[in-house]
Amino acid sequence: TGLVVAMDGPSGSGKSSVSRGVARALGLRYLDTGAMYRAMTWWMLREGVDLGDPAAVAARCPAPVIVSGTDPDGPTIHVDGVDVAEPIRGADVTGAVSVVAAVPEVRARLVDLQREVIGEGGIVVEGRDIGTVVCPEAPVKVYLTASPEARARRRSAEVAGSTVEAQQEAMAKRDTLDSTRKTDPLSMAAGAVELDTTELTLDEVVTAVLRLVAE
Ligand code: ADP
Ligand code: CDP
Repeated sequence: TGLVVAMDGPSGSGKSSVSRGVARALGLRYLDTGAMYRAMTWWMLREGVDLGDPAAVAARCPAPVIVSGTDPDGPTIHVDGVDVAEPIRGADVTGAVSVVAAVPEVRARLVDLQREVIGEGGIVVEGRDIGTVVCPEAPVKVYLTASPEARARRRSAEVAGSTVEAQQEAMAKRDTLDSTRKTDPLSMAAGAVELDTTELTLDEVVTAVLRLVAE
């Protein structure tokens, strides 16, 4: 069975870029579990499901067919056959995803799907609960952090027309929801190594993770 690298941390800490770099370097697959929560949220919004009603979200969440492509050079995500890679990054989905992700039935369904994709391993998996819930037996667990300012600066450099202040405020809101929800909140897994990326370049972080894998 292949290696599993579990990569957790808050948004803008560098999970996606670092995970893809590590997967590429080691010839592993790559799974972005945040994209699956975003895909579920995109579908709920399109269906007009009342996101303020957790029972309604729970009742509908088995329906969408969510398929993740795991090539680190070109990850893909489809919902009911529709390529949603772009729309799931929109402000409407970003603003709603943490509410949908707090519904236990949504988490149970997506964790099942994630474990199916992970299969026998050979994969870098990034998210919020990979080391704690999805794959606690992963031999390498990384918890990425960075200062709120650095995280907001990185994200606002990616999103056209957004200020660092607005990003920082939106991220803080999502951080709070993600780390205080009752089911599987964001937290550092037992056995995880914390890497503060604030003062590091992307290459330096990738190198640090590769060193952990080699240990
Ligand atoms: P996350 O998946 O945790 O939200 P991303 O991988 O999307 O984070 O990173 C956000 C941005 O930060 C990317 O554009 C990435 O290139 C940039 N970045 C700058 N410095 C670093 C670093 N030291 N480590 C990781 N990413 C960095
Ligand atoms: O893009 P960003 O790094 O900000 O976030 P993401 O990784 O795309 O995840 C979006 C949201 O999905 C998070 O804010 C969480 O609410 C949720 N999520 C989760 O609950 N569990 C995961 N394993 C991954 C994401």
